Amino acid sequence: MNNPIQGKHILLGITGSIACYKAADLASKLIQSGAQVDVIPTQAATQFVTPLTFQSVTGQRVYVDSDLWGSEGHVLHIGLAQSADLLVIAPVTANTIAKLANGIADNLLTITALAATCQMILAPAMDGGMYAHPATQDNLGRLLKRGAIVIGPAEGHLASGMVGLGRMVEPQELLGHIRLVLSKNGPLRGRKVVVTAGGTQEPLDPVRAITNRSTGKQGFALAQAALDLGAQVTLISGPTHLVTPIGSQREDVHTSEEMLEKVLIATQQADVLIMAAAVADFKPKDTAAHKIKKIGGIPEIKLEATSDILGAVAELKEKTKFPRITVGFAAESQDLLKNARAKLERKRLDLIVANDITAVDAGFGVDTNRVSLLAPAGFSESLPLLSKAEVAEVVLDHIVELLQKGEP
Ligand code: CTP
Repeated sequence: MNNPIQGKHILLGITGSIACYKAADLASKLIQSGAQVDVIPTQAATQFVTPLTFQSVTGQRVYVDSDLWGSEGHVLHIGLAQSADLLVIAPVTANTIAKLANGIADNLLTITALAATCQMILAPAMDGGMYAHPATQDNLGRLLKRGAIVIGPAEGHLASGMVGLGRMVEPQELLGHIRLVLSKNGPLRGRKVVVTAGGTQEPLDPVRAITNRSTGKQGFALAQAALDLGAQVTLISGPTHLVTPIGSQREDVHTSEEMLEKVLIATQQADVLIMAAAVADFKPKDTAAHKIKKIGGIPEIKLEATSDILGAVAELKEKTKFPRITVGFAAESQDLLKNARAKLERKRLDLIVANDITAVDAGFGVDTNRVSLLAPAGFSESLPLLSKAEVAEVVLDHIVELLQKGEP
C-alpha cells in the first residue's frame, strides 16, 4: 500500500477543549492507517478525556506532564520530538496557540513542540470570540509565517451554545490533511497529474439528460493515489456525491464539451492525463430550452457524436508535447483485450486500463475492479480482483515507471 501515513511516527498533542473527544477518533484513524502514534495531552486535556482512552486506542503509553520529572528526565521531549515525522495538535486551544507563537515551553507538549523540527499541523478549537480576538489571530499569523499548517476551525455549534467559527474540523478531514502533508516527498513530487472521473450528462431539456452508470469511484481513487505519491492533482469530474480527495483541485463539469474544454486547459503543462471518465459518445442534436411536454406527443430524439477528448489531446500533443503521458480506460463488454489494444493504438496512449463491465464485481458503481493493463510493444498484465484503491495504486506505479524511463 502506498498510504503515506503507514509506518510514520506521529506526535498527537491534545489541549483542553471539549473537542478532545474528537482526538480519540483521530488517534484511532491514524492507528488504522498504520501510524505509530504518541499522544501528549496537557493537564487540561486530561480533564476532558483520560490518558487511558488514548492508551487503549494507540496501544502505547501516553506521555503526561509528570513524565517530565520521571526517570527519563529532560531527554523525553527531545527523544519524542526528534523521532517524529509530524506533530499534530488537535484540538489546540487559544492558550496553547499563544504559547507556541511565543516559544513558551511550560508543559511536556509545548516543550516538545519547541524541540521538534518536523512539520506541525494545528487544528484550533475554541469559542468564536476567542478565535476572532486580535491576539489569537496575530498568534496564528505568526505560526503560519513560521510554516505551521492550520486546519480549520470550522463553523457550527460551539460549546458556549452559540453558532460560529471555532469548532475543530472533523477527524476524517484532518486525516486527509495529514495524509497530504506526509506524501509531499513522494516520487510524483512536482508532477502535474490530471484525472477525469465520473460520467458526463448530455441535456435533452432543462430537466432531462443522457448519462451513464459511472459513479466516479475509480477516478477519485486514482486522484487519491496520485496525491499519495506527492503529485499536484487536478480532478475533473462529472456529477457525483463522492468526497473530494484533500489536496486535489476539483473542477466540476456536466457535459462532454465542458470536460473537453477543462481537459485541454489542464493538460497544457501536465505530466500525466488519466482519462477515467465515462464520457458520453453521443449527445442530443438539439437541447430544448424548456421542458419537453407530454402534450406534444412522444419526442423523437436525434443524436450526434460528441468530441473524442483523448483524440483532441493526442492532436494537441503533436504540437505541444503535453501531457507527457496519457492513460485511457476501456470499458468493454466483449473481446476485452483485442478492443482495448485497438483503443490504445487509435488514441495514441501510453497505457490503457481495460475492464470487463459485464462482471458484477467490476466496473460501474462497485468498490472493486478487475482490470488488465496494456501498453505499446505488446505489454499486457491482467490483475486479480482488487479494490479500486488498489487498482489506482498499480496504475500509478506504472505511471511513475513511465516517467522515470523518460518521456515516452
Ligand atoms: N473518451 C474520450 N472521449 C470520448 C469518449 C471516451 O476521451 N468522447 C475516453 C474515455 O475516457 C476512455 C477512453 O476514451 O479513457 C475509452 O472510452 P470508451 O468509451 O471505452 O471508448 P470509445 O472511444 O468511446 O469507444 P466505444 O465506446 O465505441 O467502445
